Amino acid sequence: MLILGFESSCDETGVALYDTNHGLLSHALHSQVVMHAEYGGVVPELASRDHIRRALPLTEQVLQSADKTLADVDGIAYTQGPGLSGALLVGTSIAQSLAFSLKIPSIGVHHLEGHLLAPLLELNPPKFPFVALLVSGGHSQLMRVDGIGQYQLLGDTLDDAAGEAFDKTAKLLGLGYPGGPALAKAALNGKPRFTLPRPMLHSKDLNFSFSGLKTAVLTLVNKLQPLDEQTQADVAWEFQEAVTEILTTKCMTALRETGLDNLIVSGGVGANQRLRERLNKATQRKLCKVSYPRLEFCTDNGAMIAFAGAKRLETMQATEQDYRFSVRPRWDLAELLTP
Ligand code: KG4
Ligand code: ZN
Repeated sequence: MLILGFESSCDETGVALYDTNHGLLSHALHSQVVMHAEYGGVVPELASRDHIRRALPLTEQVLQSADKTLADVDGIAYTQGPGLSGALLVGTSIAQSLAFSLKIPSIGVHHLEGHLLAPLLELNPPKFPFVALLVSGGHSQLMRVDGIGQYQLLGDTLDDAAGEAFDKTAKLLGLGYPGGPALAKAALNGKPRFTLPRPMLHSKDLNFSFSGLKTAVLTLVNKLQPLDEQTQADVAWEFQEAVTEILTTKCMTALRETGLDNLIVSGGVGANQRLRERLNKATQRKLCKVSYPRLEFCTDNGAMIAFAGAKRLETMQATEQDYRFSVRPRWDLAELLTP
């Protein structure tokens, strides 16, 4: 089965072709980072308009590079939510219109399920069951994954997501957008000089809380005005140490409590090198395995949506296809969890 996947939930247009027999054939991405940078964050209306401009040329590009045509496509997957409603509507309406005109099945994919399954796109993919750390701009969750659609929530953030904390802290430090990569870059020149709290590090559960950390940065930054470049780097360094220590500790607790020895990490923050360094070391010490998607599939992309859609379509009962469309800007992953 050949599946065409569309991702348009936020500020990246991603399109990909996944073949259930031969794996990922091609993928293409257009990032809107440069367009939004001027505003210091994503402008939803501009995002929607840009998705309209990019989706079809990217579709032609992935078909051409895989030497396929639309007539070869057996099914279409698209991000149905969560995300920005206008942006989601672009990908959804294009996907549904194409599926309708080609008379093929289509499936709305949960964006986080896409992230969750992204490490399975790699060579030697991790085997079920595993513990998944999902750390994106909007979510920080720990899950037990026993198979496609068999998800059990182990821990969640009580307030800000890890990526959101990176973004807000980068803004406080005047490091610009997108915050995560900018802060990680600044931290490379940082030195241990300040101490920030590690909220919930020793809480008895697997939940996270990052808003207190952000407030601690705000208080510190206010005291340190005006910020010179070295001070920016030193605060960034300590912030990154705090977040990565919390995430690593919780992952190791999740492995211990579930008795599993396999960890996967996905979502934009999974691209953070310091986090990978810490997780590699901690899992090695406990003789556990850790897997990540390649860097470009940590952040939003079409490949993960084509893959998650393909896995869902493969197991779906043949029913009457409904080409009407709606998006789900707020869509709790809990609705997909195993009861
Ligand atoms: O998964 P993603 O692309 O989009 C969402 O679904 O939210 O994640 C984006 C988030 C942003 O908050 C971004 O700042 C963060 O991932 N991020 C990083 C890094 N690269 C992206 N955070 C820390 N270090 C990075 N290298
Ligand atoms: Zn995402």
